[in-house]
Parts: sequence; C-alpha cells; structure tokens
Amino acid sequence: MASQGSRKNLLKVRAMDFITSTAILPLLFGCLGVFGLFRLLQWVRGKAYLRNAVVVITGATSGLGRECAKVFYAAGAKLVLCGRNREALEELIRELTASHATKVQTHKPYMVTFDLTDPGAIVAAAAEILQCFGFVDILVNNAGISYRGTVMDTTVDVDKRIMETNYFGPVALTKALLPSMIKRRQGHIVAISSIQGKISIPFRSAYAASKHATQAFFDCLRAEMEQYEIEVTVISPGYIHTNLSINAITADGSRYGVMDKTTAQGRSPVEVAQDILAAVGKKKKDVILADVLPSLAIYLRTLAPGLFFSLMASRARKERKSKNV
Ligand SMILES: NC(=O)c1ccc[n+]([C@@H]2O[C@H](COP(=O)([O-])OP(=O)(O)OC[C@H]3O[C@@H](n4cnc5c(N)ncnc54)[C@H](OP(=O)(O)O)[C@@H]3O)[C@@H](O)[C@H]2O)c1
Repeated sequence: MASQGSRKNLLKVRAMDFITSTAILPLLFGCLGVFGLFRLLQWVRGKAYLRNAVVVITGATSGLGRECAKVFYAAGAKLVLCGRNREALEELIRELTASHATKVQTHKPYMVTFDLTDPGAIVAAAAEILQCFGFVDILVNNAGISYRGTVMDTTVDVDKRIMETNYFGPVALTKALLPSMIKRRQGHIVAISSIQGKISIPFRSAYAASKHATQAFFDCLRAEMEQYEIEVTVISPGYIHTNLSINAITADGSRYGVMDKTTAQGRSPVEVAQDILAAVGKKKKDVILADVLPSLAIYLRTLAPGLFFSLMASRARKERKSKNV
C-alpha cells in the first residue's frame, strides 16, 4: 500500500515537472497569445470592413431593423434605411444624427420607402438605393412579418402575403442589387431568417415556410456568388423582444395585435443587433442567435426526427387546448 502511495506521489511530481518544464508553459502562453492576437486582428478587420461601408437595411422603422440601423451607424457605415413608414424613418434619421456617442466618423443616412410586396416598387427602390451612394456594399434583408393560425383556417392569400414579404420581396431586392455588386466583385448579402427557418413549430406554417425558403435561397446564393467574392450571411435568431407578434397577421389576414409571452421574454433587439454587426464584420456564413433549447431542437430535428415530431404534436395539442381551437 505504502509503495503504491509513493508511486502515485512520484507520478504527480513527474507530471508537475513536465508541466512546468521549459517546453509546456511557453507553448501554452504562446498558443494563448496567438489566439488573442488572432481575435484582435479579427476585431480590427471587422471594424475596418464596416467603416464607410454602404449598408442598406430593410425594415428599419421598427424592432431589430431600427437597432441594426443604430449599431451600423455608430460603426461608421453609410446607411440607406428602408421601410414603408416615411415618418418613422425621418424620426430615426433625426435620432441618429443627433447622437454623438461614437468615436468614428458618421454619415447622414438616406431613406427609401417601398413595400416589399410590390415587385414594381422594388425595382424602382433598388435604382433609388443605388443612386444614394453610387453602390451598395452590404444589404441587410431584415423586414418581415409573422403569422399566427391553423393551416386549415388560413386562406392561401395570407400564405402568399407572408411569402411575398418574407421571401419574394427580399429575393427581388437582392436580385435587383446583385448586378452592381458582381460588377464591382464586392458585396455582402445578409438575410435575417429565424430559428423557424431551421425547424417548424405548429400554428406558424406560413412564417416557418417563408423562413425555410429564405434559408434555402441564400444558401444557394452563397455557393453561386463565391466566384464573385460576394459574401452571404444568414442569421437565425430566436425570440426577440420586438413588435413582431403584435404586427403578425392571422388566418383571415387581420392583425394579431398581441404581444406574445415568448416574444416579450425574448432577447433585447439591441443585443441581437450587436451580434449581427459582429457576425457581418467577421463575414460569418450561417449564424444562430438563440438560447440552448432552440439550438438543441435544430439538432433533434436532424438526428431524431421522430422524437422532434412527437414533441411538436404535443405542443400543438397543448396550444389547441389552451386556446380552445
Ligand atoms: N422578433 C422576433 O422574435 C424575431 C425572431 C426571429 C427573427 N425575426 C425576424 O427579424 C426581422 C425583423 O422583425 P422585428 O422583430 O423587428 O419585427 P417588427 O418590429 O414588426 O419589424 C418589422 C419590420 O419589417 C417591415 N415590414 C413589414 N412588412 C413590410 C413590407 N411589406 N414592406 C416593407 N417593409 C415591411 C416593417 O416596416 P413598416 O414600418 O413598413 O411596417 C418593420 O420595420 C423579421 O424578418 C423577423 O422575421 C424576429
């Protein structure tokens, strides 16, 4: 027993000798140093990438888009802010230009108003956007609308409206701006999708479908644009505390008008906007901005689909019971 103990002690001493020997500690600090330097370089490059970049943000009148406008503005980007509500955009521009909480040089934003469900308006808006600064570096397709309803009660017109706003509108705007990016061999397309672009939850059929389509389209685009050095980033956030559920439409097309508990308990749009800025600066390709549970659900959908479907069916039963539908 005694000899076993002394052998253990000898092993411990040898292990400590090895760790504190000339090779290991310098190697460890060296690795940490290289990693720190790499992160610093990444941060500096991200800042330089965004400074003076021409950035178009759709849905800048509210929620996440409004906060994105603030963080990109503070990073020194030249903004073109889009939405349907001219007064809300004017107010945002007044607010931005009145703030001095940034060390970098800022630029007075332009605004372009148009409705994403109107294909003609999108073509005209793209021309107007290009006239603002002559080109576009980064397009943030953020505008979107949510939906609540059962598949059986929802009219196809409502399905189409969601698809037009969340999918066909951003696709048309992207296609209208891409030729000028391809010509310059420079550009970055960002799509604000959702966790619901990766998994589908009951009573959100049209919304989840539009976000799945968004994910698929921009994944294809990324591969096709590589030859022109154009970046594509798809961001999939979980719940964010914005007016998304209040502005959602229901099965008959009327406004839902309710701040859902899940949305109210979601992440702050300020934080999410900062994460988006960092992801764009690092030219990330696919980013999930959600808590552990939704992120796990994505893996569950892939690795154990049967279990995932049972959980969703149970969620549907519970929701039906609580709402009596
Ligand atoms: N909040 C969340 O929990 C959450 C989670 C994941 C992903 N997202 C995504 O984040 C994005 C921003 O949503 P949000 O949460 O900030 O919601 P929000 O506060 O309701 O803002 C939506 C924005 O989209 C614009 N928009 C809606 N329909 C439009 C149309 N037909 N044409 C042009 N613009 C239109 C609105 O502008 P108007 O002033 O013209 O109405 C508004 O600026 C959406 O793509 C949403 O799907 C949100």
